[in-house]
Amino acid sequence: MKQPVRVTVTGAAGQICYSLLFRIASGEMLGKDQPVILQLLEITPALKVLEAVKMELNDCAFPLLRDIICTDDAKVAFTGSEYGLMVGAKPRGPGMERADLLKDNGQIFSTLGKVINEVANPEMKICVVGNPANTNAYILMKNAPNLNPRNISALMRLDHNRAIYQLAKKTNKPMTSVKKMTIWGNHSTTQVPDISHTTIDGEVASGMVDSSWANDEFIPKVAKRGAEVIAARGSSSAASAANGVIDHVRSWVLGTDKNDWVSMAICSDGSYGIEEGLIYSYPVTCKDGEWTIVTGLENSNFITEKMKASEKELLDEALTCSDLF
Ligand code: NAD
Ligand code: LMR
Repeated sequence: MKQPVRVTVTGAAGQICYSLLFRIASGEMLGKDQPVILQLLEITPALKVLEAVKMELNDCAFPLLRDIICTDDAKVAFTGSEYGLMVGAKPRGPGMERADLLKDNGQIFSTLGKVINEVANPEMKICVVGNPANTNAYILMKNAPNLNPRNISALMRLDHNRAIYQLAKKTNKPMTSVKKMTIWGNHSTTQVPDISHTTIDGEVASGMVDSSWANDEFIPKVAKRGAEVIAARGSSSAASAANGVIDHVRSWVLGTDKNDWVSMAICSDGSYGIEEGLIYSYPVTCKDGEWTIVTGLENSNFITEKMKASEKELLDEALTCSDLF
């Protein structure tokens, strides 16, 4: 049996974590042979609820769950940890855009970035979930120069999975037939769900649907799905977000399938003409715990213009919060 690894999760008494923690503890994220120690961070008023979550985790008698540390001290939460799942942040309500959360949530990522910089393992792998996820990850990265920037990412896998579902439904194919889906850009309404390189059972997907469906229905449907869930549910997506985190980390650590890729927001190296250093979503393959951006994709003018608009939004968001780094 492997040695246990420590997984830090912030916002652990919140909605997403009520699904996420149980799936980590059952081995769905890091593998059925990988014991885990959960280091759970909450704000002080939420510690009582967090204790109840701990009770329920214990009551599952998960064989892989070796210990649970509940704390309101970020230094305790991040010490010795290999993975940081940054969920703790305010969610948006109906009528809000995710960027409206930047003022409140950006401060959280600035503060935690400094703590992580001080106490965390410099090779710790981070997935930012709290919105606006890309810019919060950017703020964290700027406040944590000791961390390897390749290991700071933001969640786009929920959007990626939403896009797979929409295309599978439209073409009446199983989800598993859809490969090489791509989401470019920001986790916002400017994101670019792109089926130009996607295949269904090995065939070019764009040949199986009208371009008007792909451009005028599919893209806005995926990009606005978060708001659609909020309107229906009264609060933001939780179980599907948790599922996205599980998929994101599992692909990153255990690798992507042959002939497929996933979408991750990572620190841009300038690929596809996107400003270096922005946390931007790309199609990536993963192996041995490392991601590699898929290169050589030819993008139409339509997609390129949208990618540039999403880049511009991220540059503007970074400017708005430049006091945080
Ligand atoms: P929630 O309000 O149910 O839970 C958030 C938790 O974070 C609360 O328990 C709160 O006490 C805690 N928290 C607040 N500040 C904290 C801090 N400084 N340190 C530690 N914990 C802190 O919200 P939720 O539904 O779990 O959503 C969390 C975040 O995830 C929101 O910002 C939401 O918009 C975002 N989200 C992102 C995606 C994505 O795809 N990137 C998907 C869904 C939700
Ligand atoms: C989502 O995409 O469901 C989340 O980012 C929550 C939101 O605010 O839409």
